[in-house]
Amino acid sequence: MQSALVLLALLLLPLSASSALPTATSVVAGLNELARAAGKLYFGTATDNTTPEFTDPTYMGILENYNQFGQLTPANAMKWMYIEPEPGVFNFTLGNQIADLAEEYGMVLRGHNGVWYEELPSWVTSTDWNATGLAYAVQRHVSGIVGQYAGRVYAWDVVNEPLNDNGTYREDLFYNALNTTYINIALEAARAADPNVKLYINEYNIEYVGTKSTAMQNLIKQLQSEGVPLSGVGMESHFIVGEVPTTLVENFEAYAALGLEFAITELDIRMELPATEELYEQQKQDYYTVVNACMQVSACVGVTVWDWTDKYSWVPGTFPGYGDACPWDANYTRTPAYDGIAIAFEGQSISA
Ligand code: G3I
Repeated sequence: MQSALVLLALLLLPLSASSALPTATSVVAGLNELARAAGKLYFGTATDNTTPEFTDPTYMGILENYNQFGQLTPANAMKWMYIEPEPGVFNFTLGNQIADLAEEYGMVLRGHNGVWYEELPSWVTSTDWNATGLAYAVQRHVSGIVGQYAGRVYAWDVVNEPLNDNGTYREDLFYNALNTTYINIALEAARAADPNVKLYINEYNIEYVGTKSTAMQNLIKQLQSEGVPLSGVGMESHFIVGEVPTTLVENFEAYAALGLEFAITELDIRMELPATEELYEQQKQDYYTVVNACMQVSACVGVTVWDWTDKYSWVPGTFPGYGDACPWDANYTRTPAYDGIAIAFEGQSISA
């Protein structure tokens, strides 16, 4: 009798918070399948072979599904510290692994990135550069990486995050030695190395109307007036649940009016933990809002999440107390965010 009562009590125990959270429900189709059907080039993801991802068979089994992901971005493998660790000495091993994976599964490859103030090798950060020397180093670097993957990469984030949030130029070592000409040098070197690749500037907090976006548009106009090659802008889109901007479409249309394409390049929408059903439902709405904005502007060529599972997201390590930013949770279960993305690609409306 007692064991039956114990069993009954156990059955009545509240489920743990995580098992009570909602999961994706309404969608069977893959996200890249839906993106392509909607006329976009891809739905894709960053992936990182500088971490254990590539030794995780469950992760790889889902990553390699073209119906889910039609595009890959190396989160780190093609950054300066990994790909040119010594002056003029290139190591393409990690980059090739991701390029080869994309090729094997017919996925679009984005190159990331050419010139950025972070993840630089010590020979770049420790040198007291003069303009001539750094101009040469930038030209050699960008030529080397873009040339290596010529014909295999759809678009390069040639210049990454050149602006401050107040619209001024980031005073990194490139700007300090070359002013804004490092941007010209990098874009022209990339074009010389691959005549067909799309050349992007990639940035965050330019996804919405504001000072930084205006500054980016002014930079673009300046480059266009100088005849510097530029194809597109990467809208990183690192957002917070409940705080997704309301001026995405208006802002996107301003870039389209400049004759550029653009892409959502690093989408994740983090929440303050612990996750709740309400936060998950808001996140679903937020993912819908961003992808729907891309759907509203034809110059938006595709959407990339900045890795697809919470298990390997950069967010918890960078934003303490925040996480659950991805469309799959850390157990590889699709969250309602997945439905939000899918419903947007399907062109359906979402019940608020
Ligand atoms: O490779 C080393 C490894 O040898 C070492 O053992 C380990 C522990 O110290 O660190 C490893 O380097 C880490 C690297 O990722 C590769 O895993 C760095 O510490 C870590 O800081 C670095 O973080 C990356 C971050 O950029 C750097 O700012 C993230 O993975 C990457 O997702 C993130 O991506 C950036 C985009 O490139 C640009 N937009 C913003 C986005 C998020 O910051």
